[in-house]
Amino acid sequence: MTHSLHTHQQLQELVQQDKLISFLDQLARFGGRPQGGVSREALSEEDIKARAFLTRQAKEKNWQISSDAIGNLFFRIGSSNLPALLCGSHIDTQPIGGKLDGAYGVVAAMMAGEILEQSGITDSQAIEIVIWNNEEGCRFSPGTMGSSALADPRRIKAYLNSRDKNGMTLSEAIQNLRVHESQIPVREVSPVYKAYLELHIEQGPILEHEKKSLGIVTGIQAVRWFKITIKGIASHAGTTPMSLRRDAVEFAHTCYAALRQAAQPLIENGLLFTSGSWQVSPNSINTIADQVIFTLDLRCRDDRLLDTMEDELTVILKKISSENQFSITIESLFKRKVTQFPESVTDCLKEACAITQELTNCSGYYPMVSGAFHDAMYLSDLCPTAMLFVPSINGISHNAIENTHPEDLTLGLKALVSSLYLMSNRFH
Ligand code: HGY
Ligand code: MN
Ligand code: MN
Repeated sequence: MTHSLHTHQQLQELVQQDKLISFLDQLARFGGRPQGGVSREALSEEDIKARAFLTRQAKEKNWQISSDAIGNLFFRIGSSNLPALLCGSHIDTQPIGGKLDGAYGVVAAMMAGEILEQSGITDSQAIEIVIWNNEEGCRFSPGTMGSSALADPRRIKAYLNSRDKNGMTLSEAIQNLRVHESQIPVREVSPVYKAYLELHIEQGPILEHEKKSLGIVTGIQAVRWFKITIKGIASHAGTTPMSLRRDAVEFAHTCYAALRQAAQPLIENGLLFTSGSWQVSPNSINTIADQVIFTLDLRCRDDRLLDTMEDELTVILKKISSENQFSITIESLFKRKVTQFPESVTDCLKEACAITQELTNCSGYYPMVSGAFHDAMYLSDLCPTAMLFVPSINGISHNAIENTHPEDLTLGLKALVSSLYLMSNRFH
């Protein structure tokens, strides 16, 4: 066996599956639901308690702990005057999410960091573990707020004004966070990062279909979010003649149907079209609605299809609005172009996955584009970046039953350890 394979073997032998599963289960308790799954939205009490749990773990290891203006959390291993490798993910979840989306990448980063520290690698190479704030974007829009703010701090001002459904601003939520994290220094300036690596569950069916335990993510498809607000006039369901109604629900349905019809030819060419959130007010069975807010989540590997859909969306809604004299507003909440990861990183991951396959006899890796968005999108604007995936059982995610076979979770961690080891020597 070559020297380097032997080194990787020693590193990967330090990966303990029972410790990984137990760590994930402990984290899942914060916001854990009796009927399964996790509800831990960004900066909720559950999220703050989960952050405190992870911070205690970092403190026990004497890692340097810090936060930043947008509420990201960092654990640094190794000296602070060396450019660091950055590795991590998020722990905020969907309103009803699973225990692995994001959390797996954070737990794995901490365990990999500990292994590299035990092996003496961080004596000369700093590694920083990051817990991104508000990746999901379902409480405060847009998603990937923490990572996009780190990539470009000019975004912070607008983000702080983002409001949740109860009207709380992100700024107020961060003030509340600081009360709980008063011992954690908030750094003004981000350090220089040599590269960023994120391990995540695939959240889709591809790896399972390809019968591969590891995915090397070569890029991430584009995403655009819109919020459409329609105003009507509230009135009595029993006394208002149909011809006199200003029914925001009826109008919203007309708009949605027209948009979905217009999207069909683009869907046949790869557009993904979802309207996941509808808010009706006053939301009463016997009052005609005076307002409907609905969202659109559009994804595609080709930005041009999203441009076409965005143009058509504006024209269609304006036309229906003028024909029916209803007020309508369209707000763009999130817009990220297609992301391509550099071969300088994906080649490292290919080598690490091949080493992992040789050492474990696993099924190897599959190169793929991510259907889900991730913080790695914005890190790729800042430094060499890529991702590793492990399969999701039945391709299910953003669902309480989200799961991955423990053996695959362990393989992902082994590949992460080897990838970080290779990257620590390749990126300066
Ligand atoms: O929505 C997404 O793609 C991510 O899982 N938050
Ligand atoms: Mn995620
Ligand atoms: Mn998610």
